[in-house]
Amino acid sequence: MTTSGYSVLGPEIVKDLHDPRRDFAYEVLVGLSEKPKRLSSKYFYDDAGSRYFQQIMGLEEYYPTRCEEEILRRSAEAIVAPLLDGRPINLVDLGAGDGKKTMILIEELRRVGADFTFVPIDISEGAMKELVGKIRVQMPDVSVEGLVCEYADGVHHLARVAGERRNLVLFLGSNIGNFGRVRANAFLRRLWSSLRAGDYALVGFDLKKDIEVLLAAYNDKSGVTSAFNLNLLERINRELGGDFDVSTFRHFGTYNVFSGAMESYLVSLVPQVVTIAALELSFAFDAWEPIHTEYSYKYLRSDITRLAAGSGFSVQRDFEDERGWFVDSLWRAEHTIAAPTPER
Ligand code: AVI
Repeated sequence: MTTSGYSVLGPEIVKDLHDPRRDFAYEVLVGLSEKPKRLSSKYFYDDAGSRYFQQIMGLEEYYPTRCEEEILRRSAEAIVAPLLDGRPINLVDLGAGDGKKTMILIEELRRVGADFTFVPIDISEGAMKELVGKIRVQMPDVSVEGLVCEYADGVHHLARVAGERRNLVLFLGSNIGNFGRVRANAFLRRLWSSLRAGDYALVGFDLKKDIEVLLAAYNDKSGVTSAFNLNLLERINRELGGDFDVSTFRHFGTYNVFSGAMESYLVSLVPQVVTIAALELSFAFDAWEPIHTEYSYKYLRSDITRLAAGSGFSVQRDFEDERGWFVDSLWRAEHTIAAPTPER
């Protein structure tokens, strides 16, 4: 179309920019170019990483999984009770993994004859296929709609498909701990904006506790956590043509009492240059230079109430294990956000 001599072109709508391999390459490029170097823990969970994480959950030292199983077994009835008003339910599981813990709530919903659909959301396609396959075999009467995507995309999708169903969103296993304090608040606000008032969320928080217990959980004797962390470099080798020699890096897990986070690093044991073919770039490492790979934030009970209020929820009840190491906090979505964003 021509208007007084100008050629007016409509704006081009660019769609489908999401390419997982390119996103990964971009984040590796940015992270390894920074000082200190860093890689995001969200890339731990390829199929190999998800298998390592399954092993971690079975470790003697890694207490969060057992604590949470204890909580769910003891409290399943009380957790689902507020949802039983006759309306159909979406049981949404963010980061479902093998779904073992969620099964406890599914069994409870079946026991009370609730009309529900199980909506697991996980970034790992392998883990999701296994889980959906398992449910179809073990509980053929349960309706399942699995989604393979990142949590934030899953939550967004939820808002579009919920219809008249009441949501109970599970964010278990202390997954919230892998977000920094500010990102946790932003994520929960986004979750809130995808829910309706009266929907529920059950959020798993690992509490601050004896530092020796924390250190042991992230530095297990059998070396599974180390392999889990190092798999990130192996993943770069596999998917981006990297030439990391993983035997020249070591896992290091430490606790920062001030920020309240377990922090994981990979430390280069020697000076070296690593090339990543997909980036057509090399990265130099000094001996003892770290790459930060993960935060696992630990919470105070008072943090939980503040975080709920700051993201539009009210705490209905906190469910704890016997030792008081872990909390599954049941939240109700309110009409408005009551409190300002919590400070850093
Ligand atoms: C998935 N996430 C909550 C685990 C955690 O405890 O931060 C991942 C993990 N990292 C090392 N061990 C387990």
